[in-house]
Amino acid sequence: MSTQASIYDPVARDRDDFSERLFGEALGAFNIFSVYIGDRLGFYRALAGGEALTSGELARRTNTHERYVREWLEHQATSCVLEAHGNASSAGNGSGERHYSLPPGRAEVLADRESLSYMAPLAQLIVGAVTPLDALLEAYRNGGGVAYHDYGVNLREGQAGMNRQMFLQQLGHEWLPQVEDVHARLSSDPPARVADIGCGAGWSSIGIASAYPKVQVDGYDLDQASIDLARVNIQSAGLSERVRVFLRDASDPDQYGRYDLVTAFECLHDMSNPVGALRTMRMLAGERGAVIIMDERAMEEFQPCGEALDQLLYGFSILHCLPAGMVEQPSAGTGTVMRPDKLRTYAQQAGFSQVEILPIDHFFFRFYRLRG
Ligand SMILES: C[S@@+](CC[C@H](N)C(=O)[O-])C[C@H]1O[C@@H](n2cnc3c(N)ncnc32)[C@H](O)[C@@H]1O
Repeated sequence: MSTQASIYDPVARDRDDFSERLFGEALGAFNIFSVYIGDRLGFYRALAGGEALTSGELARRTNTHERYVREWLEHQATSCVLEAHGNASSAGNGSGERHYSLPPGRAEVLADRESLSYMAPLAQLIVGAVTPLDALLEAYRNGGGVAYHDYGVNLREGQAGMNRQMFLQQLGHEWLPQVEDVHARLSSDPPARVADIGCGAGWSSIGIASAYPKVQVDGYDLDQASIDLARVNIQSAGLSERVRVFLRDASDPDQYGRYDLVTAFECLHDMSNPVGALRTMRMLAGERGAVIIMDERAMEEFQPCGEALDQLLYGFSILHCLPAGMVEQPSAGTGTVMRPDKLRTYAQQAGFSQVEILPIDHFFFRFYRLRG
């Protein structure tokens, strides 16, 4: 979109570059919603076997309407997600003979739920984050919040889907074994007790219990629909004997019990009272238990034109995490971008004397151990 004049005029050049950038971002936004459609309606799963299908075949296999499916396939092929085979002009009169296929690497990202590269839930999460847009605008005007449950099933399931494999494959098999004393305690007798605060759909609790066959895990969450989903997941995993979940506010001082390990995975920044939650966690761990927090790896400090991850985190924050955390007042109003200094301040206010950043290497998350 650069014009001849813009080559000599820095303002015009910036204008043209920026409008070009917005154009590109619109393509990305549409692709996210197209991925959502392909995931929810089973299009990617139907194409994942490698067979090239026509719109009619895909519609029949997914019990959907051919005309819509054809438009979706053309969007995905035009957007270089799917590959198109056959006569380029064959779709003019109807379904045509054109076939579409999903390359195997993309099939893993879009349709393989067991892969660590599976990212279809990201589209679901983003759709969930924009679900209560009217309420969101109102919150921006009046300073209130938007309740977690108002984001609906897409937010809840998208969140769970994004973290599921990581918790099942890495949490108990790669990450916790790096924390030697915790690993030793979880592996030994008498069976250790774990409290998993803000457990959501329960995958972290399930991941710990599957990796450590002796431990008993109690998950806590404030959202009834998440607790219901967690119960289904725990039962399907065959872990109902050792994993239980409870509807409870993490900052509730009446929490009971003593635990060898107290965790909070990707949820402290969502809480209106993170200091209260940390105080509870400190109490649950007592003198001997360990407290481990996993939260987003935001940059140490705010930076204009910041890293891609900070841009993504702010994206979730403006739409979901901040408004969800503002429902209960007074609120700390943390938002998704909880930098290490912010956590240190919260931990100190909750009575911890030390915050250690664990040497667990992850692109998206940082792991903290709180002591004292
Ligand atoms: C982003 S989700 C993370 C869920 C899960 N830990 C995971 O990693 O997939 C945040 C969770 O924190 C829960 N939550 C927010 N505030 C809470 C509170 N005060 N007490 C307990 N859970 C809370 C929400 O209901 C939600 O399930």
